[in-house]
Amino acid sequence: MKKKIIRVHGTRPEAIKMAPLVEAIRGDDAFECIVCVTAQHREMLDQAMDIFGLKADYDLDLMRPGQTLTSITAGVLEGMETVLKQTEPDLVLVHGDTTTSFAAGLAAFYQRIPVGHVEAGLRSYDLLSPYPEEMNRCVTDRLALLHFAPTAQNVANLAAEGITAGVYKTGNTVIDALHRMVRPGYVFHSAQLRDIPLEKQTVLLTAHRRENLGKGMRQIFAAVQQLCAAYPELQFIYPVHPNPQVRQLAQQMLGGLPQVRLIDPLDVQDMHNLISRVYFVMTDSGGLQEEAPALGKPVLVLRTETERPEAVEMGTVRMAGIETAQIVRLARQLLEDPAEYDKMANAVNPYGDGTASAQICAALKEYFGLI
Ligand code: UD1
Ligand code: UDP
Repeated sequence: MKKKIIRVHGTRPEAIKMAPLVEAIRGDDAFECIVCVTAQHREMLDQAMDIFGLKADYDLDLMRPGQTLTSITAGVLEGMETVLKQTEPDLVLVHGDTTTSFAAGLAAFYQRIPVGHVEAGLRSYDLLSPYPEEMNRCVTDRLALLHFAPTAQNVANLAAEGITAGVYKTGNTVIDALHRMVRPGYVFHSAQLRDIPLEKQTVLLTAHRRENLGKGMRQIFAAVQQLCAAYPELQFIYPVHPNPQVRQLAQQMLGGLPQVRLIDPLDVQDMHNLISRVYFVMTDSGGLQEEAPALGKPVLVLRTETERPEAVEMGTVRMAGIETAQIVRLARQLLEDPAEYDKMANAVNPYGDGTASAQICAALKEYFGLI
């Protein structure tokens, strides 16, 4: 009898990081793999699924304008109860730190179905930053029986909380995805991107985190304004998250600057190839802190903490924070000091060798007593 695994995801980053794992599980005769999406995100999720040719077997279609953490949690809990009762899986796989992951893990726990947590053990040790992701991942690790931890640090974080059983160090599946996407001579799908002269010195910017909405984001955008004024040849590319609160402020503060290209969210293949071609990255995203170092691109993190200290320790990522002056100072250093740039532009990859999905698959077989 094949073991039935249902993997659940709802947002863009989860889709990107789960896709290689679904392929690996589906490629193994020991398993049947059902894909369920909550669609906490709609356009961005579909965009990521399409690139990997993934189709959902179940779609809760939850996204609503102005949705709140409460409405997402309640929708996932109720929707997943029905799906889990119908499918009766042997294991539920969730990923990372989103509200979808946490609520789907809780829904599985209520049905007494074991949970596997992919990207387990990341910690910022500040429950309010990233908010609510730090709490989401702590609770998901508590709910899970199996923990697929990307790095030794993540394994140690789990151990410090007394979680030592069912822990596997596997690397991060984001590297598996990256290996599939980046190609020399790649031609971008996005017409918006094809119109931008990438031979100019270019910084890739992303900013969307809840805890940065408002003051933090205003300070970040003020830094971009100052950098544009100081370096007339510099350009920024900012694929803007569809959250209306992000869109409005980005448009208001950066929309009038010819050096800043505000574009629609990119599909993941465009995104990964764009990272490989820009000068450096400024971001508050989690995934980009893993991808850019693997591609040898310096990263300034627009946050006060990180749950991904590995690339900071290796020198490719620096914490810039959310104060305008400090962001400008660190960006100027990268732009003006070639030695500093070269020191950071080392391809380092503490997140695995692109075999995380295969390793997770092997761990699943071990868990089910199939090897
Ligand atoms: C969520 C995750 C965050 C992840 C991010 C990636 C939680 C708590 N947070 O945050 O960890 O970094 O996704 O993007 O799960 N929207 C659209 N179309 C889309 C996607 C979003 O219109 O395709 C809009 C919706 O109006 C929605 C808003 O963006 O209300 C915010 O989305 P939400 O999923 O609530 O939070 P994110 O900030 O995206
Ligand atoms: N990404 C993408 N298109 C974009 C912006 C980001 O494909 O326009 C990818 C990015 O390469 C990474 C993931 O989405 O793999 C990160 O997602 P996001 O920043 O939304 O969330 P986080 O990683 O912070 O959870």
